[in-house]
Amino acid sequence: MGGGEMKNLWIIANWKSNKTIKEALEWISYVGPKIEKRENLKVVVCPPFTDVPEVKKAVTVGNFPLMVGVQDLSPFDSGAYTGEEAANIMRDFIELAILGHSERRQNFGETDEMVAMKVIQAVEHDIIPLVCVQDENTKIPDQVRLVAYEPTFAIGTGNPDTPENADQVAKSFKDKLKEVEVLYGGSVTSENVKAFLNKDNINGVLIGTASLDPEEFVEIIDSCLLI
Ligand code: PGA
Repeated sequence: MGGGEMKNLWIIANWKSNKTIKEALEWISYVGPKIEKRENLKVVVCPPFTDVPEVKKAVTVGNFPLMVGVQDLSPFDSGAYTGEEAANIMRDFIELAILGHSERRQNFGETDEMVAMKVIQAVEHDIIPLVCVQDENTKIPDQVRLVAYEPTFAIGTGNPDTPENADQVAKSFKDKLKEVEVLYGGSVTSENVKAFLNKDNINGVLIGTASLDPEEFVEIIDSCLLI
């Protein structure tokens, strides 16, 4: 980085399987107006699929600097795939898709091959694939420019990795993959977020539990902006 170029700062809320449409809209109306418009600040909310159209509408009407994403995508194009959410349908609402989250790998048998198919669908339909990995050995498809390092011991446990180790893992991805940005995820809160973002190789955070509370989420954004 140099020449006055600003590093992107990604703050991504992964609501997982939480929030009714009513709760989702309450969150948007609290958080949306409080996000500062800054070129390098990329705040993304990833609700459950059923909330996505209403969330997108609320963000558009409010003209909030908030991107909308999803937590998964179909590995196939639209067609005879019962229960799946295809990228070419979702593209009307979203800009990003979290792919290969460890909860999908553990609970739904998702493999690196399936993640690779989902990445192809995302890229083909102009959706940014954010691929989650648990360690530096997980295979990342070539087209991916955004990776989240999320060690499973840190997810939802209140026991985050150390910023130093997260930075090392992020660096190992940057050494291997050109132009990749790396996020850290796992028990991020308004208390510890700065320590991760202060590290050279970390470009943002992926937040589960702490993103559900709109006040806490705004505090996270505010503390990032002080860096
Ligand atoms: P957590 O979840 O913030 O609750 O640890 C992070 C994630 O799973 O993306």
